[in-house]
Parts: sequence; C-alpha cells; structure tokens
Amino acid sequence: MARVASSVENVPHSRIRELAEIAMSMQGVLRLYFGESNLPTPEFIKRAAISALSDGYTFYTENAGLPSLRRAIAGQYRYLHDVELDPATEIVITASGVQALNVGIRSVLDPGDEALVLTPAWPNGSSNVAMANAVPREIPHPLRGDRYGIDFEALEAGVTPRTRLLLYTSPSNPLGWVATEDEQQRLLDFARRHGLWLLADEVYDRLYYAGASPGVPVPSLLRMATRDDAVMVVQSFSKTYCMTGWRVGWLVARRDLAHKATQLNEFIISHAPSFAQKAAETALAQGEEELVRMLQRLKENRDLCLDALNAMPGVTVPEPDGAFYLFPKVEGLTDSFGFCRRLLEECRVGLAPGVAFGEGGEGSVRICYAAEKAILEPAMERLALFLGRRG
Ligand SMILES: Cc1ncc(COP(=O)(O)O)c(C=O)c1O
Repeated sequence: MARVASSVENVPHSRIRELAEIAMSMQGVLRLYFGESNLPTPEFIKRAAISALSDGYTFYTENAGLPSLRRAIAGQYRYLHDVELDPATEIVITASGVQALNVGIRSVLDPGDEALVLTPAWPNGSSNVAMANAVPREIPHPLRGDRYGIDFEALEAGVTPRTRLLLYTSPSNPLGWVATEDEQQRLLDFARRHGLWLLADEVYDRLYYAGASPGVPVPSLLRMATRDDAVMVVQSFSKTYCMTGWRVGWLVARRDLAHKATQLNEFIISHAPSFAQKAAETALAQGEEELVRMLQRLKENRDLCLDALNAMPGVTVPEPDGAFYLFPKVEGLTDSFGFCRRLLEECRVGLAPGVAFGEGGEGSVRICYAAEKAILEPAMERLALFLGRRG
C-alpha cells in the first residue's frame, strides 16, 4: 500500500494547535492560546497593499524578494543596530518567519545530523529540524532565581560529531526571556569553537520592554557576529506590525547560505506575495509610531497579568523583558495539556500547554497577553478560581 513517508509521520503535531482546535469548536472562550496580537494590521499598511495591487505588484518577484524591500531592511539594520548588510547578497525575503526557519534549517542539515535547540521554545524550530530528517536535541533553559539562563555545560555535553546547528530564540516564545549580550557572545563563541551554524530567531526583537525607550530593539546577534560567521537570523513582519496573516519575513545569513536559500525558495514558495512585500516596505518606513503605541499597551497588559499571577498561590512567573507571553509554572503540575483542557472546558479560558514547547515546558502554561483588558481581566479571575478549586 502507498504510505506517507515515515520521516514525515515522525514529525510531531503541534499541541498548541491540538488545544486550539478544541477551543475553536466552543463558544464564549477567552482565547489566549495563539501567539498573535488581536490588533488588526494598521490602516496605512493595508492601504499600501491596495496601492501596490493597483500599481501592478501582481507578478512574480525575485526569489530573494523585491530589491527595494531588501534595501529597506538593510536600512533598518543600519539605523537600529549600526550593522551594515549587503541587500543583494545577505538578505532573503521569505513568506513568513516560519518559512525563513524552514529554508535556513533545510540549508544546513543533512539527514541524520543533529541540532541543539534551546527550549522551552516555539515547537516549529524542532519540527523543522525533524522535517529535514535531522534530530533536534533540546537543551532546557534553567530558571536561576528570577531569570532564565543558558546551561552552557549541558550545551557542551549535547555536542556530538553529527551536531551542525544551534538554535535559540530571543526574545523567547514562550518565556519572554531576552539573551544578554554576554550570553549572545558566549553562544557565538560556542558555535565558533564547535564549527556549528548559529541560528537566532529574532522575530520578537522590537517587542522589548527593558530598552532605553519604547521601540528600542533587543540587540541583534548581527551586532557581534561578523558577516563571515556561520550565523543566520530569522525575522518576520508578523509580530511587530500585526501582519500575521500576510506571510512576510526574512532571513539574514552568510552570503553562501543566503545564495542557496534564495535558490531553494524557487522550489518551496518562489517568493513572498509581491503586493505584501511592497506593503511591508511601508510598514518599515512608517510603522514606528504605531509600534510605540502597541508597546505601551502590551507592557500594561503584561503588568496586569503579572500582578494577577503573582497573587495566585503555587504560581511562579519571572518578569519577562520581551515578546508578549507569560509562562507561569504551576506547583505540582505534571500534565499541562490536561490542565489546559479542563480550564477550557470548565472556565472557557484557552491557554497553551507548556508541554507543547519541548523540554522544560511541562509544568507551565503559556499566556499570550496581546489581547484587550476586557479579555485578560476575566481570564485571570477565572484562572485564579480554577487554581483555587484545584487546591
Ligand atoms: C519564535 C517564533 N519564531 C517565528 C515565528 C513565525 O512567525 P511568522 O511565521 O508568522 O512570521 C513565530 C510565530 O509565532 C514565533 O513565535
């Protein structure tokens, strides 16, 4: 009988999706399980897409994306990070952050290779490793006091002759953890020493609450790496500009890898939608004011939820500096999926189970706080009641 390839069968399904599919069939749910803001895309970006359609951006573009968008991204790196990138050879536009992960990972792993993945993490990194017929080795972030750290000893112990890649996410989904420059430097040194590719998922870099002022990004790994380092950065328009449905992102990589990823793009997606690329250019040029407004709202939401969670007995939650998630640990919790399912069925609150985020995730739940207060406040009240009943 003709079968689905075993290598594909072995790719695990997303447990966030599993919970969400149950929730979607229910009425009256306070939905905090997906990683997206409930704000619509700003009007000026939508208008730019409409103009782009009228102006004829309905044809194929280059596999690496519109040169004008790549130049605009290079301009952003110059302005935000004082980093010079060559838009012709070091930037590839992708149809989303997840496609950048896919093509980046696919370009450096052979079947049977291994990748070190810092977890808890959004599962798509590990799943993309598995889709390349390679093996993800998950290394949990240890919680040290009130901050997550990196277990460099565990990383050293995780290296084998097949290890090719180290993947980390900062700001982290689901932890909200942000790598310090010292930690980034150590990761870079580690990757250099072992001859590994270092992939930084920086899609939340603009959602940062500990900068000198709102809108100041998390320092990119590209600031300390040279253009000859085996480094990749995955990026997206989804989170910064409320453009999740548009599917536009980018990959910054060493020239040889960017060149190959561009060629592979032809066979995967060819390129991101032409008019969406054009609108993304406008998002970069005019998006700062809206971003700062959103950051203010997100920080208020974060603090509201943190205050509520800190008042719940048996709940530990470090204050995160970035992204829009809280990842509270619940004392005695060993089945986060069952917990989230009961919370959904009994209280109509939809959270993502910690187990969905790999090693170190079980025992926690993820709350996405990019929602209105009118949703967050009752959600926190119901969670407190549910935990109280649990005893
Ligand atoms: C850590 C991380 N990386 C990448 C992405 C991909 O975003 P998109 O594919 O919408 O660009 C997400 C989305 O949730 C994410 O959380």
